[in-house]
Amino acid sequence: MKFLKLLLLLFVLPLSAQQGGMWIPSLLSGMNETEMKNLGMKMSADDIYSVNHSSLKDAVPQFNGGCTSEMISPKGLLLTNHHCGFSQIQSHSSVDHDYLTDGFWAMKMEDELPNKDLVVTFMVSINDVTAQILEGVDAIPSEAEKQKKIQENITKVTASFPKEAWQENKVRTFFEGNQYILFVTETFKDVRLVGAPPSLIGKFGSDTDNWVWPRHTGDFSMFRIYADKNNRPAAYSKDNVPYTPKHFLPVSLDGVQEDDFTMVFGYPGKTQEYLPSFAVDQIVKELNPAKIEIRDAALKTQDGFMRKDNAIKIQYASKYASVANYWKKWIGESQGLKKSNAVKIKQDFEKDFQQKVIASGKQNEYGNLLTEFEKNYKEIAPYSLSRDYFMEVVTKNTELLSVGYKLYQLEQVYATKGEQAFNDRKDNLIKVQADFYKDFNKNVDEKVFEKLIAIYAEKAPKQFLPTSLTNADYKKLTTLLYSKSKLVDYAKFKELLSGDAKSVLKKLNKDKGYAFVKSLADNYTKNIAPKYDEINLKIVALQRTYMKAQLELYPNSRIFPDANSTLRVTYGKVKGYAPKDATYYNAVTYLEGAMEKYIPGDYEFDIPKKLIELYDAKDYGQYADNGKLPVCFIGTNHTTGGNSGSPAVDAEGNLIGLNFDRVWEGTMSDIHYDPAICRNVMVDMRYVLFIIDKFAGAKHLVDEMKLVHPKKK
Ligand code: ARG
Ligand code: ASP
Repeated sequence: MKFLKLLLLLFVLPLSAQQGGMWIPSLLSGMNETEMKNLGMKMSADDIYSVNHSSLKDAVPQFNGGCTSEMISPKGLLLTNHHCGFSQIQSHSSVDHDYLTDGFWAMKMEDELPNKDLVVTFMVSINDVTAQILEGVDAIPSEAEKQKKIQENITKVTASFPKEAWQENKVRTFFEGNQYILFVTETFKDVRLVGAPPSLIGKFGSDTDNWVWPRHTGDFSMFRIYADKNNRPAAYSKDNVPYTPKHFLPVSLDGVQEDDFTMVFGYPGKTQEYLPSFAVDQIVKELNPAKIEIRDAALKTQDGFMRKDNAIKIQYASKYASVANYWKKWIGESQGLKKSNAVKIKQDFEKDFQQKVIASGKQNEYGNLLTEFEKNYKEIAPYSLSRDYFMEVVTKNTELLSVGYKLYQLEQVYATKGEQAFNDRKDNLIKVQADFYKDFNKNVDEKVFEKLIAIYAEKAPKQFLPTSLTNADYKKLTTLLYSKSKLVDYAKFKELLSGDAKSVLKKLNKDKGYAFVKSLADNYTKNIAPKYDEINLKIVALQRTYMKAQLELYPNSRIFPDANSTLRVTYGKVKGYAPKDATYYNAVTYLEGAMEKYIPGDYEFDIPKKLIELYDAKDYGQYADNGKLPVCFIGTNHTTGGNSGSPAVDAEGNLIGLNFDRVWEGTMSDIHYDPAICRNVMVDMRYVLFIIDKFAGAKHLVDEMKLVHPKKK
């Protein structure tokens, strides 16, 4: 990309730092393969992805739609993060056997725990179907009609592309609608929990250390895939057998050193690397600050209760962690975008782009792109901001409102799809909301509501505020809703939903809580969403053209498609970084560092007794490196959410680490990747093996793996 080149000129970075990018595994030969070999890779592009023989990609399935995992034994053993398996570990836990606190280890296969609804998906092949998907699209003038035609083509190609009976086809767009790829996939449904360390290891440092380097977290858990007698996907059955993967990763005992080649293979979810400067400016100045302020208030309020009451702490732990994760990320992202001058770098690129358009005589096609972007981003600004306030306050951070919003959608279902659809959805809601109310505390949510509703009313764009919010007395409103509404209690909620559609809707609309949500939701659907969607459709079209123009005008640049939850390769080196003046962070942490953070009895920084004993005795077995035990390391691999659980492999494809996070200063990499400070965080495989073998005494699992010494050949 041009701005990468600009950066190089500005800071005269060594060539080796020119990294970043999330590449399509079937298209590595050429530029990527050359770069990777220059960085030290000993494999070929064909070893990473091949349809003719087994390759690395056959060992890297997506874990339950949102994370990545890898095969590490010939008997279906699967590794992913602790935070990716968290809800499975939690769901098997009770007061008597609390696996989150104590960890869990199946000492034999019969003890492995089945998981309802957990799936693991392998990518079988990657097929370019751009021509079929875009057939007949160019001739259509209206953008909305274009999109409709594309959807029709996708449905057609998905249904007709050849595959085996047990496989699926999925089409995804790349380069903002300039390329379409069909993936043939295989999804396994019998995936059992094999092991997890205690949270004090798997989540060591918790929210305080989240997004932060130096790190000492053993963020891993283990599962096993089971298949039918033919090694194919099957629903859970006790007759199923351990899956034999086409490929599994050998595990290196030799670890890493600064400057070693690393490659991370996984399913990054979403990036926005090609936004124009106007969009980035809006994120930094308006959208991130608004979302941060809302979550800040919600988190502080919940934390106040959680610290005083252990039952509330348990009820809110998981919700708190997920809200805090992105709250913290946005803070780091905004700081990083400012510090790296992302807006200015984008503006400089845009100047260069404009000149290139003129020089190539393409003013007709691309000459107005940037002014159009500017106009549309200006126009969408108040709608985007109003939308974020609505989403954050109503659907994400106030529990009363989020239940109310589900009921609002239920009312819409009645209006659009009729009584039967209404009843199905209603019955389902009654079932799933049981879990919600188990962890709901009226007093906590009441305080959160009072705070957030005030922020909403005072800070959201005035012209789009519903009348129920303007001039409201927040305190009175809060007391009224939480004393009168039936939404604050499961028994009352069920009572509200009993009866036929007509009587349910009548009761609902009489409920003060529901009526309030409805006023906000109606306002959103009438005054905000339609205009937002209309402008956004234009922006999507502009973004597609902008991408096409960049591909044409910068043919030799390292342009990679934004992440879209499909399998990608990213590569780089093990590398420390300078977070600020006169400070350098080393690339590897050791158990000594965990001991430095140790706070006895603390919920984030306590350390299990057994681990301290092993540390005191320096009893590290074959996992030590010069007498010390490595815990985590960082590299210049370009990763994002969804890459959690991704394997980090060495130059020969041996597993050296497990990706789980990024460093604080580099969290802006989803929007602007700066090779000087963007780093991914991995747990060292030697720490993983040490915990399994020495800490948990589950050596039989290590024995299933293939351990190698690539550096001592
Ligand atoms: N930041 C990592 C990611 O985005 C880890 C999140 C889990 N840990 C936590 N403390 N919430 O998923
Ligand atoms: N922690 C993230 C994940 O769960 C990874 C990241 O955002 O760097 O996918």
